[in-house]
Amino acid sequence: MSSLIANNIANNAPASLAAVLETSQKFAVLMNQYNCAIMEVETKLKVLDSEFSLKFDRNPIESITSRLKDPLSIINKLKRKGLPISVESLENNLFDIAGLRVVCDFQDDIYILEQLLTQQDDIEVIMRKDYIANPKPNGYRSLHLIIATPVFLTTGKKMMNVEVQFRTIAMDFWASVEHKLKYKKNISEEELISKKLKKCADDLALIDNQMQDIRIEIDSNEKENPNVYSFFDKL
Ligand code: GTP
Ligand code: MG
Repeated sequence: MSSLIANNIANNAPASLAAVLETSQKFAVLMNQYNCAIMEVETKLKVLDSEFSLKFDRNPIESITSRLKDPLSIINKLKRKGLPISVESLENNLFDIAGLRVVCDFQDDIYILEQLLTQQDDIEVIMRKDYIANPKPNGYRSLHLIIATPVFLTTGKKMMNVEVQFRTIAMDFWASVEHKLKYKKNISEEELISKKLKKCADDLALIDNQMQDIRIEIDSNEKENPNVYSFFDKL
């Protein structure tokens, strides 16, 4: 809804409706800013991927997906945390309204991309959780970053928080399936299922390491292209 129409309705509406309209307008403005932040970070990652591909003849990023947290999930999360349900509260307290998921072929690409992204002088790292080095007890692995990125609005620069999850294809496969299974009701023998899922996560971690070793072996036999890892060691 345009601000002009919203203001017009608000001026002629009862006080409570006017408040609802004002809040919904503030919410829409903020969500648009988060959406812009997603676009900024996605562009940064695509730039890195494309330069990497020119220099080293391979793309570290398999796919990037993004999402804005939906209003119901936002309200539920604020309630769960005992926080006020307001636009200001969500902006100040929730760091995962804007989310990007970056899926890489290899585990070491995750850390190279992290380094290249976070050393950019307009990016601030707010939080880092390395569930690859320290997997969750259920076997979940991924690198989570909360970063603040600038968005240049008509009113000037604003730093926006964005959650970036980095995973390999294997980690993503496990997390997607585990997420779907978790929402299935009436699981009998839940403990046994959890053990089996943990075993799958461990097996996939081994496979990730083996695939990476194969790639390093191939890279080190490659005479024509510079070895990407010796390049990044110098950064
Ligand atoms: P929430 O954001 O409320 O989930 O809590 P948090 O910020 O403390 O959690 P964390 O940063 O550890 O994880 C946030 C996101 O990572 C989740 O929304 C999921 O997308 C993903 N995630 C974390 N743990 C798991 C897990 O055990 N299984 C799966 N499938 N995904 C997970
Ligand atoms: Mg979170």
